[in-house]
Parts: sequence; structure tokens; C-alpha cells
Amino acid sequence: MSNCVSWLDNAVFYEIYPQSFNDTNADGIGDINGITEKLDYIKELGCNAIWINPCFKSPFGDAGYDVEDYYTVAPRYGTNEDLANLFKKAHKRDMHVILDLVPGHTSVNHEWFRQSMKSERNEFTDRYVWTDSIWEEPQGMGCIRGISERDGSCAVNFFSHQPALNYGFYKPDPDKKWQQPMDAPGPMATREAMKDVMRFWLGMGCDGFRVDMAGSLVKHDEDSKGTIALWQDVRKFLDAEFPNAAMVSEWGEPDKSLIGGFHMDFLLHFGPSHYNDLFRCDEPYFSKRGKGSAKEFIAAYKANYAKTDGKGLICIPSGNHDMGRLSVCLDTDEMKVAFAFLLSMPGAPFIYYGDEIGMRYVEGLASVEGGYGRTGSRSPMQWDKSVNAGFSTAPKDKLYIKQDESPDRPDAESQSADESSLRSEIKRLIALRMSKPALQSKGRIEFVSDGYPLVYKRTAGEQTVTAVINPSAEKAVVNGIGGKIIYTTGGNAEIKDGTLYADGCTAVFVE
Ligand code: GLC
Ligand code: CA
Repeated sequence: MSNCVSWLDNAVFYEIYPQSFNDTNADGIGDINGITEKLDYIKELGCNAIWINPCFKSPFGDAGYDVEDYYTVAPRYGTNEDLANLFKKAHKRDMHVILDLVPGHTSVNHEWFRQSMKSERNEFTDRYVWTDSIWEEPQGMGCIRGISERDGSCAVNFFSHQPALNYGFYKPDPDKKWQQPMDAPGPMATREAMKDVMRFWLGMGCDGFRVDMAGSLVKHDEDSKGTIALWQDVRKFLDAEFPNAAMVSEWGEPDKSLIGGFHMDFLLHFGPSHYNDLFRCDEPYFSKRGKGSAKEFIAAYKANYAKTDGKGLICIPSGNHDMGRLSVCLDTDEMKVAFAFLLSMPGAPFIYYGDEIGMRYVEGLASVEGGYGRTGSRSPMQWDKSVNAGFSTAPKDKLYIKQDESPDRPDAESQSADESSLRSEIKRLIALRMSKPALQSKGRIEFVSDGYPLVYKRTAGEQTVTAVINPSAEKAVVNGIGGKIIYTTGGNAEIKDGTLYADGCTAVFVE
């Protein structure tokens, strides 16, 4: 299986948390039309693809990751027509839109679950993972008990109100008849139902999916072999019916997900990637203090890169709705260097809304819709200096989440007008990437040094671009550099007799 979705070759994604992006009807919650209204903003930044977090009907116990109806846009965000219109307007601008698919669990309100809770057998009896008796709990999974007519406990996948859909067990215990094999009729019907959901939205113009907890589907699947096989089957369906659809997994183990047929996988704050070492720890690599280390990250990256060569893309996001903001541990100058790295690595970069202006994590908030500690990273976008930072004209107390109240909070309008802002730097870095195939998704990477500075060569055909990423405040001296400096993030850099001298806290690109 090769990575055959060509629009990914130079894709740069922008992640939108719909409830916090742009409110067009003054109810305090962002909406689909609000996204459509901001397409030009996203395009002007240079991003040509968008991932929207779940926007489907939901009781919002986990901000929409508890889906009640896969086929209907949540009324608070608008209608299916609004979403189809967003696809159309994005395509007109040569942009692509992927939705969030949550295949591992639903809300307890989902009609499938209501039917599945009934004691008499029906089409949905085997749609979820149930034990045969209320007195037996599914081991190691957590469960919902005592709310169904049916005698059994239902496994959960995340929060205790998110019942686990049944894709079967890789190695069912023969003494536990309720553990169905992957190819039993119930699990196969669940799989087909999820393909139907994908068909529906892809048919309407959506360009693919970010898949929630993609590695969690098949149970008792220690090496993920069952889940990998399942996704390979989904990929076959896509290749046959929607060959331009792109799939990115929330998995964090490219050596599994990309073999499973995903076009892309994220490196994340959990899993074996050492992502946090770079951006989110006491001494992040990208701090000026220069006390961090990228070594373990690079070692894991290289291993993944070798194992997945040519099979798909490894994506490094600036952040997402589940982790602290990038600005928690890094100041503006440090973020500029971090973005120089993020936007010059292979794979498709993902920018979390607001990270382009260094939006802050809002401290001290009460949890909103199952956000808990994540709530502070989900506050409404700061567009300008008007009321509610231009996010909404609703009264302040109606806003979905409280905004950053600091008088110096960053906003998009001011930063767009300021050449020296983080946003302007990011815009220039994306433009650089778009102009150099070597820097795009599939350009090769070879690491030259993994300390301070970090040095790597990107190549495509005849083109080679060397990136010298120097987050530390100390000057960098790198021998054996030939060519011309094509970009620096502010600080001074020069090449003399094959040696590059670069200021501290600067990234330099040489061709
Ligand atoms: C993923 C989502 C997260 C959600 C969870 C359960 O990790 O990113 O926001 O709470 O899955 O669906
Ligand atoms: Ca609204």
C-alpha cells in the first residue's frame, strides 16, 4: 500500500475546534458558517487543509467525542447543508477538509446503544462489547452497568459514558462466549456501519478523516495485529471508492498505523515518540536555556521513518485540543524556532487554531464539556481587539469557554499587521515550504546532528535544503555547510569558508 493521495504532498493542516473558532449567530458557540467565513484567513496564513473536531449531534459529555448521531451536524453548529457548503467553498480555494471520525465508541444516547440495551435480541444486540451477565465485568476495560434492561455489563472506551463499539476480540477467550471473534457477524456489521458513515460524508464532499483512538478498536489485541488488519480492510474500501480521501490516525505509533493503511499518523503527547521532550516539559528542547534534549525524539523518529519508509506520513502537530498550549513552556522567539522545525519536517504539519498567534492556556477554568485540564487550551479564538476578541457578539458570560482576559492577549488582526509577529513568521515559513519540494511532506530527511543545533538535510530530486535549528541562546557554529542562506528566523547567520555561524534562538535554511 503506497501513499497515493497526492494532495497530501504539500498539505499544511489547520485544526479547528468548532465550538471555539468563530460564532456567527451570537449564541456564544462557534459554528460551521463561522469556519466558512474564516477560510480566507486560513488560506492567507498558508494552510491548505483543515481538520475539524467532531461536529455531530452529541450530548457533549466529551465535547462531541460522544457521538449521538454520526449522520447529523449538531444543531448548535448548523446543518448538514452548512457543512456541505463549507466543503464546496474550501474546494473553490484549493483547500481540503477532513472531519473527525470516532469509531471506537458512541454516546449512551446513540440509537444503536438504546437498542443494544434491550433484553430482546435485535440488530444492535452485538453492536457493543457486552458481557453475558451484569455480574461479570469486561476485564481491564471499565464498564457501564445497571442502566440496561439487558443482563450484561458494557465495556467503555474512554469516559464511562462512552460505550465501546464491538469490532471483536483478536484472541477471544473460549470460556467467555461474549468475546466475539473479529469476523463474527456483530463485529463485521459494526465495521460496515462505520464504512457507511465514511461513505456518507465523503459522498458529501469531505476529503477524509482524522480517526479518534484509531488503535483501540479490536480488544485483547496486544500487538495491534487485529486492529491493523481491520484498518487495512477499510483502506481497501477507500482505495476502491474514494481514492483521494486521506486518513490520519490518533495512534502515535506510525509503525503500526501506517502499516494499517493510514496515510498519516500523529506523534503525540502520549506514546513512545518523546514529543513532549521538545515542547512540553520542564526543560523543553526548544527553550533558550538550551538544557533540553531532542536525542530520544530523533532516535524514535528515525526508527519509525525507517520502518514506514514510503508507506505514509509522520505528522508532528503544534498542539491539539488535548494538551497544553505551545506557549505554556515557550516564549514567542522560542515558538518561532519551534515552528521553523515543525514546518520543515517531513509529513504534513498540523497547526492547532490559535497557536499561530501564540494563544495562551487559560488557567483556573472549571471543566467545560469533559475538558478538565484540557479546557484551558480550548478557549475561543482571539481575532481582534473588539468585544470578545471578535469571536462572538454574545454577552461575555454566554461564551462557550472563558477567554484569556489579559490586556495583552494576542490577536490575529494585530499579528497579521505586524511583520515581526509569530503569525507573520509562520506565514513566511509556510510560504518557504510551499516553494521548496525538498521541504514538503515527502522530501527525504537525513539528520546530521541531534544536539544544539539540530541539523538535518531535506532532499527532493536535485534539491537539497539544510535546516539548522538552534533554539539555544548560544551561537551555533556548524562546519561543512555549503550553499546559500535562503531563510532565517530573525537572528543573523552567515557562511564563511564552509562554516555556518548562526545567532542563538535562530533557525537557518541553506540551499
Ligand atoms: C481522543 C480525543 C479526545 C477524546 C478522546 C475520546 O483522544 O482527541 O479529545 O476525549 O479521544 O474520544
Ligand atoms: Ca454560534
